[in-house]
Amino acid sequence: MKTFYITTPIYYPSGKFHIGSAYTTCFCDTIKRYKKMDGYDARMLTGTDEHGQKIEQAAQQAGKSPLEHVDYIAGIAQDLWKSLKITNDDFIRTTESRHKTAVQDIFERLIAQDDIYLGEYSGAYCVEDEAFFTPTQLLPGGLCPDCGRPTKIVKEETYFLRLSKYSERLLKYIEDNPDFITPETRKNEVVTFIKSGLNDLSVSRTSFAWGIPVKSNPKHVIYVWIDALCNYITALGYGSQDDHLFQKYWMNGNEVIHVTGKDILRFHAIFWPIILMALDLPIRFRLVAHGWYLMKDGKMSKSKGNVIYPEMLVERYGLDAFRYYIVKELSFGNDTVFTPEDFVARFNSDLVNDLGNLLSRSIAMVNKYFGGHIQNTKHNHECLKYEQELEITAQQVFTKYHEYMDDFNVAKALGEVSRLVARTNKLIDETTPWALAKNVDYLPALESVLYHLLEALRLATIMYSPVLINSHPLLFAALGVDDCDQTFQNGYFGAKKQYDVAHDAGHLFPRLDAETEVPYIKAMMNEQPKAIIKPAKPEITIDEFNKMEIKVGKVISCQTHPNAAKLLVLQINTGDRNRQIVSGIAEVVLPETVVGKTLMVITNLQPVKLRGILSEGMILCGERNGKPVLLEAPCDLTPGSIIR
Ligand code: MSP
Repeated sequence: MKTFYITTPIYYPSGKFHIGSAYTTCFCDTIKRYKKMDGYDARMLTGTDEHGQKIEQAAQQAGKSPLEHVDYIAGIAQDLWKSLKITNDDFIRTTESRHKTAVQDIFERLIAQDDIYLGEYSGAYCVEDEAFFTPTQLLPGGLCPDCGRPTKIVKEETYFLRLSKYSERLLKYIEDNPDFITPETRKNEVVTFIKSGLNDLSVSRTSFAWGIPVKSNPKHVIYVWIDALCNYITALGYGSQDDHLFQKYWMNGNEVIHVTGKDILRFHAIFWPIILMALDLPIRFRLVAHGWYLMKDGKMSKSKGNVIYPEMLVERYGLDAFRYYIVKELSFGNDTVFTPEDFVARFNSDLVNDLGNLLSRSIAMVNKYFGGHIQNTKHNHECLKYEQELEITAQQVFTKYHEYMDDFNVAKALGEVSRLVARTNKLIDETTPWALAKNVDYLPALESVLYHLLEALRLATIMYSPVLINSHPLLFAALGVDDCDQTFQNGYFGAKKQYDVAHDAGHLFPRLDAETEVPYIKAMMNEQPKAIIKPAKPEITIDEFNKMEIKVGKVISCQTHPNAAKLLVLQINTGDRNRQIVSGIAEVVLPETVVGKTLMVITNLQPVKLRGILSEGMILCGERNGKPVLLEAPCDLTPGSIIR
């Protein structure tokens, strides 16, 4: 089996992760899922980059030790990726000993072979970017050319990596491997930079302590970028007793892809291959550099109050709405401005109007005209030509989709699937099935048209599978497609000969009302955590706590309360029976997105009527900025499990 190894950058644990970092991670996960479906042995790595002065300072500000601080934020990252259903196979933290030991050994080896030497450095240093700059690189006023912040003059004994020794070899490598950097424009930037002359790079610091000490000279800590870049191989066990993953995915691997934002391309395209060359390892990887999610007023920043966090969007609109938007909207290689208007419009147009409608109309017609069962039928009606056109489009889309995905252009690949869905909707307009149904002679044609709708939907769902994580199984279930017809191998028209569809397609993608949702998202963007500390409640004994019966419950259905806009009425299976619970969560979730969730329910609360509707318990919620946040129990806990 061919191997495929894809990595995200390892993120700085400096705060909460916004939709920018979520983009890179969802992008990599989408590609990994795609490659898996395409028959690869695919592996994904992400993690956190936990050393450096910036982290040391952030920890100080938070009143924590650096390790306490990074432990906390690495936990947040792991929880976030879990909630976005990221299928990373490993999560590397640069403070782990498996990484630190290997990095120390790499550094010692490079000293021993004189690729790293001790010298002295004096120059303008930017703490934010952890980098020195030459006078010609600085902006007027000595400002950092990357982030615009003031730099300070730092003079210190430091180790240097001989970049200059490898620059010719690197240029030749880039020339001989035209797809080393995607997209091409980014490659040109890198080549120009190398040609302008590479100075040896300062790769150790003595001015702070939060880093990996140089083994033979521990007053130096290893420069954070050397430390960080090595994660891509230390996570595979490079330099350890058990390096079988390194052998499998790197040395003998078929494809290695590092995905990075354009901001950190240079580190990956210059320092990293040079480290590998110095270690006498094959470069092996390709770089995919993407653009940025910006806001109308530029970069996201807490002080501007324009940051948007993934959890908030997922909570209200569901995981698929978020994942679909995030990987579709950023046109590959460019920057894109996130706007609430686009978020709502993208969801409504692609998923509600096009895909959702096509599914519900098709399923309804198959039920109405053929009792839910149809097969591939021959006929000579003139609508044959439209069907043939659709078949051709499906074939082209399938081929293009693969081309784009193989080129890491997820946005365009999804654009192709939308094209197929649009063409399929057009078949309904062209053939007007309800008119065919009126004439018994046209029943074979009607059956064939409906068969074409379902086949196209099946193909679109296959292609959407790496992105619509929660809804693709529901789409397949509505169509009655079993596992073997969900594969790329069977991704051609006619592979499935007959259909037995569900009675009802359900409401997979409820329409968003722009008038409500756009202001709602705007409000999310301005939400700042409030510094209100509520007085602690009086102590209780364990016996008092044990009086509560808390159980896992699965939401069977959910509707808005007829008399109260803030309340939802949920039917929840708590193992013993279904119970009705009225809850004040209407402000933060749409009823449809709660169905199927596994929640925690207090089942022995005295029943009470809330605005005229009986409530037989209470669901547990967290609180963010004064608003409730649903607390989900792990979905493998069955309804009725006791929570203690
Ligand atoms: N720690 C380094 C990377 C070391 S990799 C060996 C770092 N970390 S970071 O936390 O700043 O995250 C960098 C990555 O997050 C970017 O390269 C990019 O992939 C992603 N993004 C951060 N903000 C982003 C946007 N606004 N939009 C899209 N991606 C962005 O640099």
